[in-house]
Amino acid sequence: MKYHIVTYGCQMNLHESEKIAGILREKGYTEEADIDDADIIVFNTCCIRENAENHAFGNIGALKKHKREKKDLIIAVGGCMAQEKGKAELIRQKFPFVDILFGTHNLNELGDLIDKKRAQKKRVFSLKEERGETEDNITPVRTGYPGAWVNIMYGCNNFCSYCIVPYVRGRERSRNADDVVREVEELSKEGYKEITLLGQNVNSYRGGETSFPELLDRCARVEGDFRLRFMTSHPKDFSAELVEVIKKHKKICNSIHLPVQSGSNRILNLMNRHYTREKYLEEIALLRREIPDCAVTTDIIVGFPTETEDEFQETLSLVKEAGFASAFMFIYSPRTGTKAAAMEGQIPEEIAKDRLSRLIDAVNEQTRQISAGYVGKSCEILCEGYDERKKLYLGRDEYGRMGYFEGEKCLIGKFVTLQVERANGISLYGSIVK
Ligand code: SAH
Ligand code: SF4
Ligand code: F3S
Repeated sequence: MKYHIVTYGCQMNLHESEKIAGILREKGYTEEADIDDADIIVFNTCCIRENAENHAFGNIGALKKHKREKKDLIIAVGGCMAQEKGKAELIRQKFPFVDILFGTHNLNELGDLIDKKRAQKKRVFSLKEERGETEDNITPVRTGYPGAWVNIMYGCNNFCSYCIVPYVRGRERSRNADDVVREVEELSKEGYKEITLLGQNVNSYRGGETSFPELLDRCARVEGDFRLRFMTSHPKDFSAELVEVIKKHKKICNSIHLPVQSGSNRILNLMNRHYTREKYLEEIALLRREIPDCAVTTDIIVGFPTETEDEFQETLSLVKEAGFASAFMFIYSPRTGTKAAAMEGQIPEEIAKDRLSRLIDAVNEQTRQISAGYVGKSCEILCEGYDERKKLYLGRDEYGRMGYFEGEKCLIGKFVTLQVERANGISLYGSIVK
């Protein structure tokens, strides 16, 4: 029997799909297959913005005919959207061919839900309000070699006023530090070369007495030839200790994802972010003082309720001042149940679109300039795979820049030095020197 998993959303979800694959393997689904050949199809959904939801709904809807043609096919829907208030009912009514629904809090029950569905032939919809930590017992089927993800915490307590994550992922729960370190040790032994610690706000990690900088320090002391990354950091909890630890260890990439969201203090306050533009820029200054080559990437939202053109200009000027290497940029999307969705002064779509396109231009220009500075220099790339379209091997440097080069299959999972010959956007092209 074969399985197919469709994943939407963040790295947290990508890793959870690896856990879902682990559960499916235990249930006798021995290999991954195309959607048309699968005996079970699992959607791991996201609801961070409206378009993420629409995308999932569209793809689930398209499966109606699969189900008609293949009576034994099981279709399961899980993830953040399934956990969202009212969505389970909507899925129940709109998609009568969905057999199993599970939320973010009962991922570990998926195996039982499959058994139930097989036994009773009826639909099984199961949602829980809070989850236990049992998903750490699931052995994931890792798909990111040479990279591997490790959860260090679940949930979020921050309630940024635009964000649905705290509602669908529940309260913050940190994993035991020894368990995290043990997992990193195993991954290093198995030959993984890039290990990423995952949490919605890693800086507020608390595993008993262990803080996040301490945990990172312990992980970086694990033997082996690998790089260490972490995401996401919240600027309100960013600390000098964290900078010290990054600086101290060569294994930890000199690269940090530090979502700023807006350059305006009034908007940051409305967003409930608990820092100011000035504090954010001080953090960047500290980073640059201690680790001059550190790359900073970010997330930005435009068109938050009541955002004025002047406030948007403050975001544009912050992009320059902070010198972001790259950014994920979004139009604010109202999420039912969040504080911002009920605010007055929602911004018309044309205005938000126009701001987004100006912001993208500004960030891209900056990214281009930084990339151009690489030409003629060398950089160390971890070879990740082969790009079928470009007919070139590819991989990232420690700053997150993608490098493309002529190579061979045996280089996947190896660090190579690239002489950069040309740059295009965030991508570098070059040839291997050793
Ligand atoms: N926990 C992380 C990010 C979670 S979601 C953090 O705190 O930074 C990833 C990004 O999606 C956020 O940083 C934000 O920029 C964006 N985002 C979240 N909710 C959104 C919404 N309602 N509309 C538009 N973008 C949103
Ligand atoms: Fe959402 Fe804010 Fe939590 Fe990030 S920190 S997941 S943006 S509520
Ligand atoms: Fe991630 Fe989307 Fe959920 S961004 S935490 S999958 S809502």
